[in-house]
Amino acid sequence: MSAATPGERAPRLVVLGLGYVGLQLAAAAAASLTVTGVDIDAGIVARLRRADSHIDDIPSETLAPLLADRSLVVTDDPSAAAHADVVAICVPTPLDGRGDPDTGSITRAAHDLAPRLSPGTLVILESTSYPGTTEDLVLPILETSGLRAGTDFHLAFSSERIDPGNRRFDVRNTPKVVGGLTERCADLAVAFYRRITPEVVRASGIREAEMSKLLENTYRYVNVALVNELAQVCERLSVDVWEVIRCAGTKPFGFQTFTPGPGVGGHCIPVDPHYLGWLTRQATDRDFHMITAARQINDGMPAYVADRVATALAGAGVDVDGARVLLLGVTYKPDVADDRESPAYALASALTRRGAHLYYHDPYLTSWAPADATVHRAENLEEEAAKADITVLLQPHTAYESLALPTAARLVFDTHGALTGANVVRL
Ligand SMILES: NC(=O)c1ccc[n+]([C@@H]2O[C@H](COP(=O)([O-])OP(=O)(O)OC[C@H]3O[C@@H](n4cnc5c(N)ncnc54)[C@H](O)[C@@H]3O)[C@@H](O)[C@H]2O)c1
Repeated sequence: MSAATPGERAPRLVVLGLGYVGLQLAAAAAASLTVTGVDIDAGIVARLRRADSHIDDIPSETLAPLLADRSLVVTDDPSAAAHADVVAICVPTPLDGRGDPDTGSITRAAHDLAPRLSPGTLVILESTSYPGTTEDLVLPILETSGLRAGTDFHLAFSSERIDPGNRRFDVRNTPKVVGGLTERCADLAVAFYRRITPEVVRASGIREAEMSKLLENTYRYVNVALVNELAQVCERLSVDVWEVIRCAGTKPFGFQTFTPGPGVGGHCIPVDPHYLGWLTRQATDRDFHMITAARQINDGMPAYVADRVATALAGAGVDVDGARVLLLGVTYKPDVADDRESPAYALASALTRRGAHLYYHDPYLTSWAPADATVHRAENLEEEAAKADITVLLQPHTAYESLALPTAARLVFDTHGALTGANVVRL
């Protein structure tokens, strides 16, 4: 790919994977480039072709004009990658059944791309993964094309940093970290991203860029674990953890506020640190102790919340066995429609094992069905809050702000520490 110069045609970008990350990138780039989005899920492709977005942060109204003037074309055919100037791989990187990295989608995307790779193409991995993924996994597959990385085609890594539901920062105003296989690869990747976002940060190498993403998410994971453990200790010591955090948060340097909650969810924070933990175990003779400890604490939060809910009920003279419990906000974070890895699943299981009858309400989900718990949908929130023995606020969606929960509900367990009242118990 040649760097942009005035008068030159804009590079053709192909994005592999049109989920939260890929669709954001494709939509942002389509404002100035010709973009083809490829997804193996024919259902997603069919929806997108109708300009029916499946991603909250990209409204259908944003997609419609891009599709109409064909600055964005969507297909399930990987042959679209032939003759691309830039290919961005934005496929999922979950954990497998053992809790280890599952890089199968990256492998498949690279295999789909290799026979279609053209000389001069810049390939950028955006999926979060462990250091070495771009060079040790993607590179050899792409070289089955007969082209050599760093000479015949270019290779780089650049992590995506989108924060679903964040109204302030998106792909266009969040600095982009880039690491290239060679200086030329990095130059081209930096030039490419400068078309989309003003601040591009050049890493000294691909592995440093890959590791920086794992540091960002591991930092969040261990700090959330720290305050989750602090909440448990404060409760035993009769200290108000929310006041502790409010006070500590006034320090203008050297402290960043994290708040406790019912557990970590989504498919980044509870997942990415284990790519680092796994690599550490594979490549060194040691464990990454902070990640192991944080996992133990964070994974234990739903069971801890279930215990506290049972205790709150007992304080009101109600046995959790047979109690009517309303769960409010079962997605993984406020004001998003994504329930992947939501701690509400583990909480529903734990309360079901204790004999509670569960109801849920979430304005962002039309249905919610944990595998090992029976949950009934609360159609009328105020009526159900009045009927439930306890209402558990999990995600404080904006829609709940107008609900005077301490008045509407008999008893409230607030996992976000925002509510007050004689019938409110805070995490
Ligand atoms: N969602 C986030 O907030 C976020 C933020 C930063 C980084 N990331 C990382 O970005 C990557 C993508 O995450 P996401 O949230 O967009 O995932 P996602 O599940 O929302 O979307 C991935 C898409 O890729 C498609 N896909 C899978 N294999 C494919 C292939 N071989 N070719 C073409 N399409 C394929 C899937 O059908 C799916 O539509 C992950 O590594 C994730 O960790 C995610």
